[in-house]
Amino acid sequence: MSRTTTALSLLAATALAASLVSCSNGGGGEGTATIENCNVGISMPTRSLERWINDGEQLQKSLKDAGCTVDLQYADNKTDQQISQIQNQVAGGSNILVVAAIDGEVLSPVLAEAKKQDATVIAYDRLINGTEDVDYYATFDNYKVGELQGKFIEDQLQLASTTETFNLEPFAGSPDDNNAKFFFSGAWDVLLPYVQKGTLTVPSGKAPSSNDAWASIGIQNWASDRAQSEMDNRISSFYGGGKKVDVVLSPNDSLAIGIIASLKSAGYKPGDDYPILTGQDADKANVKAILDGEQSMTVWKDTRTLGDRVFTMIKQIASGEEVEVNDTTTYNNGEKIVPSFLITPEVVVKEDVKTKLVDSGFVSASDVGL
Ligand code: BGC
Repeated sequence: MSRTTTALSLLAATALAASLVSCSNGGGGEGTATIENCNVGISMPTRSLERWINDGEQLQKSLKDAGCTVDLQYADNKTDQQISQIQNQVAGGSNILVVAAIDGEVLSPVLAEAKKQDATVIAYDRLINGTEDVDYYATFDNYKVGELQGKFIEDQLQLASTTETFNLEPFAGSPDDNNAKFFFSGAWDVLLPYVQKGTLTVPSGKAPSSNDAWASIGIQNWASDRAQSEMDNRISSFYGGGKKVDVVLSPNDSLAIGIIASLKSAGYKPGDDYPILTGQDADKANVKAILDGEQSMTVWKDTRTLGDRVFTMIKQIASGEEVEVNDTTTYNNGEKIVPSFLITPEVVVKEDVKTKLVDSGFVSASDVGL
C-alpha cells in the first residue's frame, strides 16, 4: 500500500470513527450523543430492589438518547429466567451485553453463545465467574464498601481505645453473589480483631472465624424477610435477661429493613440504647430510617456514576477505542483477571442526607420526608 493510500485510509478510518461516535459528554442523558452499531441487552436481577430499577432505567435512557437499541430485562431474582432473557437478547442481535448476575457462577454457557456472535460482555456491579467470556467489569469498590461499614462501627464505638465490650450481630449478603464476599471481607478485616480481643462479643455465635467462612451467615437473595426472621431468632434465643444488641453489621439496605423490623418488634426504640446499624445503597426507605434514627448510616453508591461509566465503556467498545479501566489486579473470576473500573463509594449519615443525596438529585426531599 502506498503512503498516500495509507494516509487516506487513516483519514477514512478517523472519519468513520467520528461518525460512529459523536459524543459530547460521559452519558447520563445530558447533551447530544450518538453511538452507532450499538444494540445493547441489559440484564438486571430484580425489580424488588430500588437500586436495580434506578440502575436499569438510567442506563437505558442514556443509551436510547444516544441512538442505541436497548433491551432491558429484569429476572425476578431467578437464575433460569436471567439465562433465558440473555439468550433472547443474543438471538435478538445484541452486540453488547450488560449483566448484573443473580448467580455469578452459572452464566458461562449463555455467555459462550453470546461470544459466538462476537458480543462484548460487561459485568455490571457483580462479577461473573468461571468464564473467559466476560470482557469488562464496572462496579463500586466492593471491599471498600465493607471497610467503610467496619470503620464506621470502629469509630462510633471507639473500639481502638474503649475498655467496654459490645454485643455485635453480623450479617452477610446472598451466598451466590460474588460481591457479598468482598463486602464481608472489608468489614471483617476491621472487626474480627476486636472479636478476637473480646471488645466485640457475638452472643449468637454467628461470627465467622475467617473471611472465607462468610457464606455461613449469608442471607439468600438479600431478602428483607429472611434477615428479619434471622434477627428475630437471634434476639429470642440469645438476648434473654436484659441483654442488649449494641451493633448490627448489615451489608446492605434490604437486610437493614428486615433487621429494623425485628429490632422494633423486640422493643428497641430510636434513642441512646438503639443499636448501631449499617447499610448500603441509600434506598429511600433506608434514608427515611436514617432520618428517623432507626439506621445509623448507609454506604452510598451513586448508581448514576456507574451508569455513566458503563455508558462510556459502551461508547468506547462501539467505536473500537481502548476501554478505560482502573484496576487490572483485583477481580480474578477463576479463568482470568477481568479488567475493571472501580468507583469509590461513600458514607452517608443523617447530616449528609440533604447535602449529598437531596442536593445532588439522587433522592427528592419529599421522597424521604424532608
Ligand atoms: C449490590 C448491592 C445490593 C445487593 C442486593 C449487590 O450485588 O452491589 O448494591 O444491595 O446486591 O441487591
